[in-house]
Amino acid sequence: MTQVSRIVILTGAGISAESGIDTFRDSGGLWEKHSIEDVATPEGFARDPDLVLGFYDARRAALADVEPNAAHTALARLERDFSGDLLLVTQNVDDLHERGGSTTICHMHGELKSALCTSCGTRSPWETTMIDRPPCPVCQAPTLRPDVVWFGEIPYQMRRIEEAMMGCDLFVSIGTSGAVYPAAGFVQQAKRLGARTLELNLEPSEGTSIFHEARHGPASELVPAWVEEVLGA
Ligand code: OAD
Repeated sequence: MTQVSRIVILTGAGISAESGIDTFRDSGGLWEKHSIEDVATPEGFARDPDLVLGFYDARRAALADVEPNAAHTALARLERDFSGDLLLVTQNVDDLHERGGSTTICHMHGELKSALCTSCGTRSPWETTMIDRPPCPVCQAPTLRPDVVWFGEIPYQMRRIEEAMMGCDLFVSIGTSGAVYPAAGFVQQAKRLGARTLELNLEPSEGTSIFHEARHGPASELVPAWVEEVLGA
């Protein structure tokens, strides 16, 4: 592998699949069991807040039963040992990158372990449930919602991501189907800006032909092998 100095990595649900977290669009995935309109839109929340709060409470509680896998820990090793710049952007709302040892993570779709107060706008670390309408730790209003980005809302930290994309010489997409924008458009953007692009996914994603290179297989095997290559180059 040629030497690279600035890497942007985008991860999706596939990186956490081998840890036991359901992806969204694979067979048996979350969007087969739940409707996006009901649990992942502001309109769904307005219609039936208990359904939505219960859905995310269950997903938050399920984090206690899973552990990071070799792909998460390999990316943490890359962050530690890579001498260039690295930005890890994830669409995942789980905390497995953090628990795998990564420290700088851009959660563009928010986090399960965070609460957003719809009264005062504060984001607070959150470990427990919301269906029982606990007070916001800052303003005390019982108006918390999951701090996750729903369809129709603007993803977090887009400016920071765009700045990193401008200067990157390698863009790597890991475990994402490439079905949801703006993340699905990052590969085209990176390519236009002159970066090399690499896909690491179980199977070809929707945008697989756009990448300069695509490797297919489980993240727990592909990611550690790729990290080894980068650090050994
Ligand atoms: P998807 O469920 O759409 O795609 C998961 C991808 O991971 C698929 O392409 C699988 O082939 C791949 N995959 C599955 N197991 C894998 C493994 N062991 N190793 C490597 N790859 C594997 O999930 P995302 O692309 O993350 O947004 O979905 C993007 C967004 O859509 C999510 O952040 C969420 C969802 O709706 C919101 O809720 C706003």
